[in-house]
Amino acid sequence: MDIFDCIYTRRSIRKFKDVPVEFDKIIEIMKAGTYAPCAGDLQNWKYLFEYDPDKIKSLYHHTLEQEAFMTAQVAIIVVAETDIAEKFFGMRGKRLYAIQNCAAMIQNMLLAAHALGVGACWIGAFDENRINDMYKIPSVARAQAIILLGYADEVPKQRHVKYVWFLVNYGKYGMKYDNMQRIMHDLSLEWEKQRDILKRMANRRVNEAKKLVGMDKEKTVKSSAKAKGKDMLNDLNTQAMNFFQGLKKGKPASKGAPQRRAAKKSFLDKLKKRR
Ligand SMILES: Cc1cc2nc3c(=O)[nH]c(=O)nc-3n(C[C@H](O)[C@H](O)[C@H](O)COP(=O)(O)O)c2cc1C
Repeated sequence: MDIFDCIYTRRSIRKFKDVPVEFDKIIEIMKAGTYAPCAGDLQNWKYLFEYDPDKIKSLYHHTLEQEAFMTAQVAIIVVAETDIAEKFFGMRGKRLYAIQNCAAMIQNMLLAAHALGVGACWIGAFDENRINDMYKIPSVARAQAIILLGYADEVPKQRHVKYVWFLVNYGKYGMKYDNMQRIMHDLSLEWEKQRDILKRMANRRVNEAKKLVGMDKEKTVKSSAKAKGKDMLNDLNTQAMNFFQGLKKGKPASKGAPQRRAAKKSFLDKLKKRR
């Protein structure tokens, strides 16, 4: 499965078939988790593997009675070793990196499961004390999530994902542009066009030089063409920067927070003047 297909078609599965998941697939999923990026490459994470059907069902009582536990074939608790992160990165390590490391690990697991045709769900709502008691998790570690696995026995309802350009702010938080998607699209097309022109020009230079100075000088000519190409790309970068700088002066989207704030301020100013 192509990586983008995998990302775009993955869904949370909460109802599973009464069919066991093969061990080699489970191992592959856990292995994929360990390849996630992590701060300082500390790899300060652990898996608690639960395959016992009765115990998985008993987890139902410590997870706000989520039905998914009734049919899940496997439960994997992802645990962060927060003390290690704290030792290296202080509070930021304990409160941020340890959690982010596990989140990256979990996402890898979910994608790997989907690629292998196995359904999965990230469970974050659970009674931490009960889970700590049940699995003897020490205070230097923290359970981050329970990952349920099994073969899907449901087709999830369609999900609406926000358009990416609705999330893009430019320059400062809250700064939006009505036509951001058009700007981004146009710019990428412009880049593609310029790159093709540069490539063609560099090839032409090399071919012309080959004819003029012979094959032995080909290397020198190639590197000089490359250097020229680099200069031109730098120019292109400056152009893009200027383009964005120009945008900064543009109008923010009508519903943007900065504009609302500005409107509020001018309204209050007017009020003050009247008094
Ligand atoms: C931090 C976190 C906690 C979550 N906790 C739960 C949970 O307790 N129960 C559950 O059914 N789904 C849980 N989910 C899954 C989300 O509900 C799900 O990813 C979201 O609705 C989007 O749907 P999708 O995964 O099918 O694309 C959690 C997801 C995350 C990232």
